[in-house]
Amino acid sequence: MDVKPITRMLSVAGGGSRMSAEIESILGVDWDVPKKEYPPKVVLLPTGGRMVVREARMEELPKLIKAVAPLISVERDFYDIVAARLCGELLALYRHRARNEFCLVGIVNGKLAGVSNNRAFDAKTHISLHTIALKRGARVGTHMFAAKQENSMETLEAEEILVTAESPIGFRRLISQWCEPRPGIQHELNGAKTWVITREKYQKVKPQQVFGSRPVPDELMKSSETFEIAPLDWLPKE
Ligand SMILES: CC(C)(COP(=O)(O)OP(=O)(O)OC[C@H]1O[C@@H](n2cnc3c(N)ncnc32)[C@H](O)[C@@H]1OP(=O)(O)O)[C@@H](O)C(=O)NCCC(=O)NCCS
Repeated sequence: MDVKPITRMLSVAGGGSRMSAEIESILGVDWDVPKKEYPPKVVLLPTGGRMVVREARMEELPKLIKAVAPLISVERDFYDIVAARLCGELLALYRHRARNEFCLVGIVNGKLAGVSNNRAFDAKTHISLHTIALKRGARVGTHMFAAKQENSMETLEAEEILVTAESPIGFRRLISQWCEPRPGIQHELNGAKTWVITREKYQKVKPQQVFGSRPVPDELMKSSETFEIAPLDWLPKE
């Protein structure tokens, strides 16, 4: 890396906001591979509801963090670590400290039901980050995981996705259905074990895992443009 522009910039006396804008132009990261928006879809849940899955907009990230943050104190099923990491990733995306990250939201009856995110390491290799179900017992998380892999493979045309899991439910429902082991590689998430979804594996798994129809009917799309934060009714009352 050429450090000359940095040293020149740091020597600017009284640079004030110009200097911080210049530093921001060094620290900030964004998309550096072709970015296309995920085409929204509607998924029929086994419980009967319809979930709209669409890409989260930048301006709704603070609200998403607010929805996920209470789960940081829930040890059950590893919600705590997944919520903490997801909040960090969403904040990084919002503050331009995450490269090539996208986030999908699942909305049922105007309420936030699930969130998932991935990141493109480069155009060929994507990193599977997190999936969280705020509504439980409806396979929301399974569909949100499928949707982000669909986005990586089909919209963004990745060739492989590196995956890991924090929780036994995640391992059972997601890794074991989708992935092949990739030994000898440390995952971006603190060096955890790595599995991979190759393009070939994706095509094999797709008929059993990737569901939903397009386009989303206008009325349903309109009612899913924003979301309310759903009560976490599956948590035991204190
Ligand atoms: C993993 C996860 C995304 C899967 O989401 P999902 O497919 O919607 O599944 P649910 O969480 O609703 O249910 C999974 C299991 O938990 C059980 N469960 C626990 N509490 C439940 C509740 N209140 N209502 C319904 N099911 C519940 C279900 O019975 C189900 O068991 P089964 O696999 O034997 O059927 C979700 O469990 C989750 O967000 N977990 C915490 C974060 C996490 O682990 N993320 C993945 C990291 S690898």
